[in-house]
Amino acid sequence: MKWRAWGAVAIALWLLTLAACSSPSPATPPASPGPDPVAEGKAVAERYGCVACHSLDGSILYGPTWKGLYGSELVFTDGSKIIAEEQYIRESIRNPTARVVAGWQVVMPVLLPTSDREIEPLLAFIKSLGQGDLPRK
Ligand code: HEC
Repeated sequence: MKWRAWGAVAIALWLLTLAACSSPSPATPPASPGPDPVAEGKAVAERYGCVACHSLDGSILYGPTWKGLYGSELVFTDGSKIIAEEQYIRESIRNPTARVVAGWQVVMPVLLPTSDREIEPLLAFIKSLGQGDLPRK
């Protein structure tokens, strides 16, 4: 019950973030093509409001922090475990409901970047935040 309420709050805040900073045509976001995929990934994360739910510094917002996510061990609601590598992270962005990390509710919107042009820089950005030391709840 409590988690459902948080989910609604999280989505509302995320929509506000999007409304506040998205351009009038969100369907064609200009992925600032730069030589630096990490900076580009950060820009994508900010544009889609990912950072409203995923902290970069280890603190807990409405989703798991991205700090140290890459390479850390994740346990899912069905008890299965994996090491968070590129394939899993791509899958989580394209299809957030496919596997849900234990302890979390699916509140992540499906309306998110699905093109490799945006996901690859996101991956570079997430990797730059440290690897393998995700603080588990
Ligand atoms: C409304 C809040 C919200 C927004 C916005 C959001 N997420 Fe999430 N995300 C979550 C929650 C909650 C989970 C954990 C539940 C799950 O595994 O689906 C999650 C899980 C993930 C995971 C798997 C991480 C892990 O620890 O297993 C990745 C990767 C991810 N999100 C990337 C993104 C990206 C990239 C964006 C923006 C394009 C984004 N998220 C936007 C809430 C959000």
